[in-house]
Amino acid sequence: AEIEAFDLVVFGGTGDLARRKILPALFKRFCAGQMPSPSRLIGAARSKMSAAEYCDFVRAALREFCDAADGREVDQFLEHIDYVTLDAMGDQGWQKLADKIGTQTVRAFYFSVGPSLFKELAERLHKWELVGPDSRIVVEKPFGRDLETARALNRVLCSHFDESQIYRIDHYLGKETVQNLMAVRFGNMLFEPLWNAQYIDHIQITVAETVGVHGREAYYERAGAMRDMVQNHLMQLLCLIAMEPPAKFEPDAVRDEKLKVIRALDTVEPHHIVRGQYTQADNVPGYREDVGNPRSTTESFVALRCQLSNWRWAGTPFYLRTGKRLKSRDSQITVVFKDAPHSIFGPEAGRHNNELTIQLQPNEGITLDVTIKEPGQGGMRLMDVPLDMSFAEALGPDADAPDAYERLIMDVIRGNQTLFMRDDEVEAAWAWTDPIIKGWQARGDVPKPYDAFDFGPDMAAQLMRRDGREWRGIK
Ligand code: BG6
Repeated sequence: AEIEAFDLVVFGGTGDLARRKILPALFKRFCAGQMPSPSRLIGAARSKMSAAEYCDFVRAALREFCDAADGREVDQFLEHIDYVTLDAMGDQGWQKLADKIGTQTVRAFYFSVGPSLFKELAERLHKWELVGPDSRIVVEKPFGRDLETARALNRVLCSHFDESQIYRIDHYLGKETVQNLMAVRFGNMLFEPLWNAQYIDHIQITVAETVGVHGREAYYERAGAMRDMVQNHLMQLLCLIAMEPPAKFEPDAVRDEKLKVIRALDTVEPHHIVRGQYTQADNVPGYREDVGNPRSTTESFVALRCQLSNWRWAGTPFYLRTGKRLKSRDSQITVVFKDAPHSIFGPEAGRHNNELTIQLQPNEGITLDVTIKEPGQGGMRLMDVPLDMSFAEALGPDADAPDAYERLIMDVIRGNQTLFMRDDEVEAAWAWTDPIIKGWQARGDVPKPYDAFDFGPDMAAQLMRRDGREWRGIK
């Protein structure tokens, strides 16, 4: 669709997110012709800098985080960049910002700052009459740290903006492969009839990372994997895998269905959840050394088994697992189908089942394990072979796979909230997460140690083995 000219104001314009994600994403969209004149990106932050100095900052960010930076395109992009020194807590700089903002209809304000500043920013945007009916704000996680704080944030934002103006980012929803989950489920006839407890034994979701917590120790120490990954990214993946088909691919149709999934989640029993914390292995420091807190009980790993109480999924376990400093970076969803009800080939043929694996990152693709005859003479023995589709192979290496932030920022400009979280969705996710975290606190739970660059605590494997199952992924 045609993109109208816009002003994107980035509060926290000199921060890490701006450098790593927002600026490179907007630059790429600029190169794709989606930043028509007189669109601008206006950085706003406390640092005293001129617009020219901010341009140097932007140039350095593009050099560091974009492959093809420097040259004419960068110079042209920089003509769209401006900067104001601004105090979120006071009045300094706001008049200047007001003067800079154009008469374009689309105004987006990106709150790339801690949630403690949301209220101040919202109030001052109104005080300086910067908000029109076609203005939008973008907020990042962490959206609160529990149900109560999330509600308070929603109250603040909703007292200044209409829900239709609030874009809560979960960048997993902007990932091409995550959107593909919906395309695969609802664009094919093949899967949907089998997509329920009758045919599916269980579903597992793994989001494994090799990185530690470098550079964000203070934030992570207070958050832990449950708040940092499970409450948002893993929950969103679960929603997309488990939801009913929405009638339309439209914001509220999709978000209504996701909300129903979260609300159908049972409380997780304490023995169905394993927390872990990486420890020193070889020359890699452990979590406690990384954050400089020898007594930290923050988890860097969570594995859990949960269940949905609804018609489609009653009795089907969902296993979720995520952690830092694991053996490989590997995010995948595996749908494990039940065994055929009866084997006509007898016990010696072996038992096999179908599995659909959706590889989210890296090496995006889909694999379907199909049972065939083992080649050779004598009798009938079965084996699995993958029907294997790597997206890079199928679509070609140059296929347009924009970064999550490119997609999401342009959706803000287009005014499309489908891939953003609604207030009730975020609150429902916290309502499910809260008792788990409170339970740990009440019991004084200490995470199980696991070696850095390994598979996570043994108990996570046991969580599966107890049920006669095994984790897939993490090679
Ligand atoms: C962020 C978390 O939201 O997602 C990080 O705060 C995590 O801890 C990151 O590393 C993972 O994102 P991606 O896109 O690299 O899978």
